[in-house]
Amino acid sequence: MTALVPSDRSYDPSDRWFQDAVFYEVLVRGFYDANDDGTGDLAGLRAKLDYLQWLGIDCLWLLPFCPSPMRDGGYDVSDFFNVHPDYGTLGELVGLLEDAHRRGIRVIADLVINHTSDQHPWFAESRSSRTNPKADWYVWNDDDQRWPEARVVFTDVERSNWTWDDVRQQYYWHRFYSHQPDLNYDNPEVVEAMFEVVRFWLDLGFDGFRLDAVPYLYQRDGTSGEHLPETHAFIRRLRKQLDAEYSGRVLLAEANGWPADVADYFGDGDECHLCFHFPLMPRLFMAVRREHRFPITEILSQTPELPDGCQWAIFLRNHDELTLEQVTDEERDYLFAEYAKDPRMKRHMGIGRRLAPLLDGDRRLAELLYSLLLSLPGSPVLYYGDELLMGDNIYLGDRDSVRTPMQWSPDRNGGFSRADFAQLYLPPLMDPVYGFGAVNVEAQLRNPGSFLHWIRGMLVQRRSLPVLGIGNIELLDCPNPAVLAFVRWGEVADVSLAAPDGLGPPAVMPTVAAVPVEPADVARTVPAEHGAPGAARTRFQAVLCVHNLSRFAQPVQLDLAGWAGRRPVEVLGRVSFAPIGPEPYSLALGPHGYLWFDLVEPAWAESDPS
Ligand code: BGC
Repeated sequence: MTALVPSDRSYDPSDRWFQDAVFYEVLVRGFYDANDDGTGDLAGLRAKLDYLQWLGIDCLWLLPFCPSPMRDGGYDVSDFFNVHPDYGTLGELVGLLEDAHRRGIRVIADLVINHTSDQHPWFAESRSSRTNPKADWYVWNDDDQRWPEARVVFTDVERSNWTWDDVRQQYYWHRFYSHQPDLNYDNPEVVEAMFEVVRFWLDLGFDGFRLDAVPYLYQRDGTSGEHLPETHAFIRRLRKQLDAEYSGRVLLAEANGWPADVADYFGDGDECHLCFHFPLMPRLFMAVRREHRFPITEILSQTPELPDGCQWAIFLRNHDELTLEQVTDEERDYLFAEYAKDPRMKRHMGIGRRLAPLLDGDRRLAELLYSLLLSLPGSPVLYYGDELLMGDNIYLGDRDSVRTPMQWSPDRNGGFSRADFAQLYLPPLMDPVYGFGAVNVEAQLRNPGSFLHWIRGMLVQRRSLPVLGIGNIELLDCPNPAVLAFVRWGEVADVSLAAPDGLGPPAVMPTVAAVPVEPADVARTVPAEHGAPGAARTRFQAVLCVHNLSRFAQPVQLDLAGWAGRRPVEVLGRVSFAPIGPEPYSLALGPHGYLWFDLVEPAWAESDPS
């Protein structure tokens, strides 16, 4: 049994909302263009909050939105205290935050903490001489030989972490592109400046941050310059400030590393609230291609127990390449061979494709992977457009392949913008398989059998099973290696599920006449400051999740002896199965099938078909 979350926790809905939240990563630039200039904006995102609320997400993660020359998707910030003029104004940002909060949706920002753009005035000053007041705000050196142990992240583009600066006549240090000089965290003024940035955005109302590239803040001789003790000390300071002045706000670490190293970013519960579980992601893709559960069970067994009050953030795809940094060379070759058959699909050390094309458009496989994402320990992070099974454009440079405009309708520019096509920040997809004519929100809203409706239904189910967020996991033995089965169990808050007036998802989307609404649609945990959290009682919950990783139907015999006496009730249809006895429990699963069962005490079962 692998316990990924602590078993003794006193669940506090106001502080621990992130432990069973569903996150939605959104590119402001690519979501919706409200002023028809070809670029998505804050007003556009705000206009689409109805949709996001209807979908059932709990927290938005905004990709970088500060002023930037946009040479790395906004991860090259040139002013930390403003909004990129293409996206709107600070006032519009505040409006978005208020509107999101009113709907019970939290919002976190991407905090690009490790570096700035070379266009940032801090860097302009720092490079201007060796004696100016900001001379030590970046990391300078006379030669490019220091810290040879530190790896180059974008190996396909950069040859070294040092770049010569003609102005200052010295080299500067950068872990990413050469136009992104690293800040010098050994300088207390830099630390203070970044704390000011943090306070600025929290004061505006953000609910926390994704800490971009956080392992690289410091450099030390003889080390790889990753996960250093100094970095952890900095995060602890940051966390202290949050706890003292901004309780309930969260830090999410983007630390691409092995589980044991990444778990250090939780500290003793005194660093980050959440960390992305990077190694799990490629192993999900590996397991479904190999039709074998080992890659998943192996990484779960190497995942340390979380400190109290923490959570993993798990994901299938995001705005970057499907990174293959955390796999062996052999596994990487295998994944490239399976998922990047055309060399143009490769990006940096990974694959620049979206979920649906990676899966050859196989809906059953997509459902299987989402079922895993929504039931394995961790808070799921969805990537905009993947709820539609949107496609990618591998002919676009760098990671723009997966950053094309959201597809709202079959209209001009996919309903994303009314600007001229040539003015769009990137072309929308127009191919016959994934183009906006075939894949769009409007069509999927109209079709109750669409993937969009399916995933929304799964989010509703997940919300009714809080143990999927915070429960323990017991991996079940079963002789068939193509089947991954586990029980999520633990005490959960028995909160009242009814949302206060006006706070639940809207009954129908304004643009669609008849979206069926089941009673469970109103089940929604509302942040304490936005409504009454309900009674603070707890109850025991156990959910059995069974996944067939194979293309073919599979039998399975599960050792459920520890749960004998309970009755599995299938979650989607509320169909009651035969009670569990001491003998192996037999099930059959269709190709790429998945089943979730509430393991209920006999008295709770609704019917007895046996
Ligand atoms: C972001 C990338 C970005 C890099 C440099 C990453 O971790 O996710 O999109 O290129 O940081 O800022």
